[in-house]
Amino acid sequence: MGAIVEVVDLVKRFGDLAAVDGVSFAIEQGEVFGLLGPNGAGKTTTISMISCLIEATSGSVTVDGSKVDTAPGAVKAALGVVPQEIALYPALTAAENLAFWGKMYGLHGAELKQAIADALELAGLADRAKERIEKYSGGMKRRVNIAAGILHKPRVLLMDEPTVGIDPQSRNHILETVKNLNTAGMTVLYTSHYMEEVEYLCDRIAIMDHGRIIAMGTLGELRDVVGGMDIVDVKVDGLSDEAVAQVEAIPGVEQVDRTEASLQVLTRSSGSIMGRLVATLESAGAHVTSITVTEPNLESVFLHLTGKSLRD
Ligand SMILES: Nc1ncnc2c1ncn2[C@@H]1O[C@H](COP(=O)(O)OP(=O)(O)O)[C@@H](O)[C@H]1O
Ligand SMILES: [Mg+2]
Repeated sequence: MGAIVEVVDLVKRFGDLAAVDGVSFAIEQGEVFGLLGPNGAGKTTTISMISCLIEATSGSVTVDGSKVDTAPGAVKAALGVVPQEIALYPALTAAENLAFWGKMYGLHGAELKQAIADALELAGLADRAKERIEKYSGGMKRRVNIAAGILHKPRVLLMDEPTVGIDPQSRNHILETVKNLNTAGMTVLYTSHYMEEVEYLCDRIAIMDHGRIIAMGTLGELRDVVGGMDIVDVKVDGLSDEAVAQVEAIPGVEQVDRTEASLQVLTRSSGSIMGRLVATLESAGAHVTSITVTEPNLESVFLHLTGKSLRD
């Protein structure tokens, strides 16, 4: 086994903005590799360069032994892509949409028919195949997109935030589909800004922010980045800048990220700072409505490395 996708020092500039700013990673055959980062991190731009949709400013991408700049045809044949934006014909049925995509990949006749049936089955849409897409929920449309991405049985599947904005049931179905595809041998590059998804799915994870990979490894390796630090999530009414500043000054508090009515506090000693944390907030005129302590996860890694929270 070797790397089936190799990205080396990849850069994409849009004018002054380095949307992707020197990214390198290698995906081993059979892995589910996660690219985790907030909106604007550069995930879609990275995927677009791997799938030959946009040209890199510099750097190299190799997929299954072929380079995107010299052998884009071979790269595209090895890849299945599930884009963020849905690209389907609403007036056609799921099966008809897939037939369109299958023909684009050069499938026809009995082979095409079988490929459509297999893909619909995998996407859990076999019983709805003859309905027009316009009647589908957002989640079902996403599943058709996934079916379209796997029609030609690619070696590597690139999935760009496939669960954003859909119902929980479809979301769970998509996560299970990714697991099943991987069990059947498919290598997957999965991008998301939901840490729970990459924690659940991915063998290795690259955390991305502002066009750069700021940490990479297995979930265990990434958790070690924050050592024994917990996140204390405090919901507060009447939070002021002064209150936040006082919390930051509490001994044992490593980092604080503030949203409108909550604080995320990174600390090695959640047990011992709790009383002081509540007292500090209350005396600064804020009212604590709930406190939750979470053990080290990708959220705490992100908070530790960037000083901000992953959630949007
Ligand atoms: N075609 C483009 N022209 C100019 N800026 C772009 C273009 N595409 C993306 N960007 C910018 O590049 C950055 C990374 O975007 P993107 O790759 O879409 O991030 P993500 O997928 O992680 O949310 C963002 O700041 C975005 O606004
Ligand atoms: Mg994106």
